[in-house]
Amino acid sequence: MNQGPIILGIESSCDETAAALYADCGLLAHAVHSQIALHADYGGVVPELASRDHIRKLIPLIDAVMAQARTRQITGIAYTRGPGLVGALLVGGTVAAGLGMSLGVPVLGVHHMEGHLLSPMLEDTAPQFPFVALLVSGGHTLLVEVRGVGRYRLLGQSLDDAVGEAFDKTAKILGLGYPGGPALAALAQAGDSSRYDFPRPMLKKPGLDFSFSGLKTAVMLAVKAGHADDHADIAASFEQAVTATLVAKCRRALKATGCRGLVVAGGVGANKRLRAALAEQARHDGFALHFPRHAFCTDNAAMIAHVGWLRAAEMRPGIAAVDARARWPLTELAPPLTTSASPTTA
Ligand code: KG4
Ligand code: ZN
Repeated sequence: MNQGPIILGIESSCDETAAALYADCGLLAHAVHSQIALHADYGGVVPELASRDHIRKLIPLIDAVMAQARTRQITGIAYTRGPGLVGALLVGGTVAAGLGMSLGVPVLGVHHMEGHLLSPMLEDTAPQFPFVALLVSGGHTLLVEVRGVGRYRLLGQSLDDAVGEAFDKTAKILGLGYPGGPALAALAQAGDSSRYDFPRPMLKKPGLDFSFSGLKTAVMLAVKAGHADDHADIAASFEQAVTATLVAKCRRALKATGCRGLVVAGGVGANKRLRAALAEQARHDGFALHFPRHAFCTDNAAMIAHVGWLRAAEMRPGIAAVDARARWPLTELAPPLTTSASPTTA
């Protein structure tokens, strides 16, 4: 029987409902329910539908992870407090608070992007601090210097669309389904990535910020000028332009900080072309490259339970938990109060 902490993680910030259990020995169980089918007809996430579905799915998912791990003895609860859709976040926060009160265990609201950022620590070969993290999701494109848990310095960010958003909007222009990222990536596989010379945004300027709206416009013009036969080449060339931009900025960030490791997390981290290009660059430049496993690139509760475990000393009685933040800069975070549990890094 496990005598140490067992943290229940709850994720409900957008269109995935998820629960997980994390203990000193690592991840005990995790489960995700994706709402993709629910939102598909609308071409994007409908916040009210998302909240209602989180209400339906969360408790059964929590039951499922407890059954998987064959334990109901949780010692703390971590839920995603933000950033995300407020209604969706409030579902997770309310369930966390209610369970915390009824079970008499403390609760902590954690930062969704910190979850993504530290998710490669769930893998066998965990990254060593300090490292540079590239966070690429539907809502964020961030380059962060990570000197330890809660020690984050923002190096660069998107000035307009997040990279996942650029994938989703470009997919829409190409008439692809929702969510656009995976659909565009699938179409791009059959395309010629050198056919269109799309702009590599912000590469000529110094600095580590990104901008993707110009690239989206270039794609729109190419679609208008071309035929349906050209779509695979357009998709591949778009993916290539994004990949080249992200790889170049990561190299710049590694150089500027002197870090020897790069962590890539968030939904776009699942993109095969990006993963291959970064792996090639890592071999060439000699930096260590870390991705979470495919299932933990997109939203999940394993990363939330993990942050809860790292920050277990900050947990408070359940009543304080019903709290959500639509926006929440990562740099507001501080190191854990005390490291009651030590990170899985060697
Ligand atoms: O991290 P995530 O699951 O949710 C947010 O916190 O935003 O990221 C979702 C984003 C979406 O924009 C989706 O289209 C994109 O990640 N995405 C991809 C791929 N898989 C998911 N983009 C490109 N290639 C993929 N294979
Ligand atoms: Zn996410």
